[in-house]
Amino acid sequence: NSQSIPHLSGIDSTRAFLSEGYSFISRRCDQLGSDAFRTRLMLRPVTFLRGRDAVRSFYEPGRMTRRGAMPPTVVPLLQGKGSVQSLDDEAHHIRKQMFLDLMDRDRLRAARRIFAEEWQAAARSWQGCEIDFSDAVDGIMTRTALRWCGIDPSQHDVASRARELSTMFAAAGTLGPAYLQARWLRARCERWARSLISQTREADGPAGSTLAKLAFHTDLDGSRMSEDVAVKELLNILRPIVAVGRYFVFAAHALHSHRAAIPAVAEDDEPTCRAIAEEVRRLYPFFPAIGGRVREAFDWHGARFEPGDWLVLDLYGTNHDPDIWEDAERFRAERHLGRDIQPEGLVPQGGGDYLQNHRCPGEWLTMELLTEAVMQLRKLDWTVPEQDLTLSDNQFPPLPGGGLRIAVQPENP
Ligand code: HEM
Repeated sequence: NSQSIPHLSGIDSTRAFLSEGYSFISRRCDQLGSDAFRTRLMLRPVTFLRGRDAVRSFYEPGRMTRRGAMPPTVVPLLQGKGSVQSLDDEAHHIRKQMFLDLMDRDRLRAARRIFAEEWQAAARSWQGCEIDFSDAVDGIMTRTALRWCGIDPSQHDVASRARELSTMFAAAGTLGPAYLQARWLRARCERWARSLISQTREADGPAGSTLAKLAFHTDLDGSRMSEDVAVKELLNILRPIVAVGRYFVFAAHALHSHRAAIPAVAEDDEPTCRAIAEEVRRLYPFFPAIGGRVREAFDWHGARFEPGDWLVLDLYGTNHDPDIWEDAERFRAERHLGRDIQPEGLVPQGGGDYLQNHRCPGEWLTMELLTEAVMQLRKLDWTVPEQDLTLSDNQFPPLPGGGLRIAVQPENP
């Protein structure tokens, strides 16, 4: 059944995938002249896919499940048993709707306002200093995430939460001591989140907050989520908001490294800042790929996939696919100007339908916050001191040598 999809030579690709990282799948596709190939990962047979057609097929509603499709080390840090990622069909729709309901226009606007306030408060202390931008952003985004959920940062240990939440996504691709440390930090964060959920339930409030919506959400069976699951979903909101901060680091990297390619318009020009944000999401590495297991058999380009088959869709490679993107490796924000729908080939946060599938419900929020961050960065007077700006290909996601240092000029009196 695999005639039309080439097999990669060699027994197993785990080592090559981990060492080559983001470019592994594309490089093999280019060598084989095929947008798909078969190999083994952790000794299990797998098919890698990239490109627009692959996205369309992978995100056909009802076709795939995320269960048993991610490395077992990643699941406890980024998902968790009983969380929205592990659900399918009607149970998934009901839970997913809760996330989508959080993303209405007013809430997105509020998130952007809260973030701008937190940025400005932090930026006052940057004048005339050289700062670790990544570190600064973790603090800003933790405070933003807490406030957006209706949790008052002054009542909580923000520094500990920042460390826990940022380590969860930064260490999800690691093994060994760094990974074990992240599991320990996650357990500590879960204890904190559990007390928040139970206090909210006991006090019946504060009504309308993100935290309350989550605490009182009812699932398909009409009952509230267990405390365990509610904790996972709260972390499924807080952690990725802090992760959006990593895109701010990439935005600063882009504004510096690609300054010649940035359109010369007013610093606060909204469409331009938005287009820069989109190009950062397209070009910079975050989730390399997403795994799924087949639930319903289907044919694709002459090959048949059976229930249980393991597929891995190349998100990074699709964002860089020369069949989709002209001058794919170049930073060209203008390509996104004047567009009102997201192209199928732009999948840093997944593809397909939000409700019918596992596409990231935080995509609008990410764009809102990232657009504002680009605007704030363009208004700030800063330079990049001599340092290694290389983003490693096999760190998921990478950070330039310990965090991107920037020198902020003193404000003119
Ligand atoms: C799912 C990426 C921000 C909440 C996902 C997926 C990806 C992703 C690749 C999996 C898609 C799939 O399985 O097909 C990102 C990136 C972000 C980001 C790169 C920014 C750095 C956010 C934000 C939130 C969020 C801000 C919420 C506030 C979620 C949830 C899911 C998800 C709950 C699971 C959805 C489901 O299973 O139906 N995200 N995300 N993410 N994301 Fe995000």
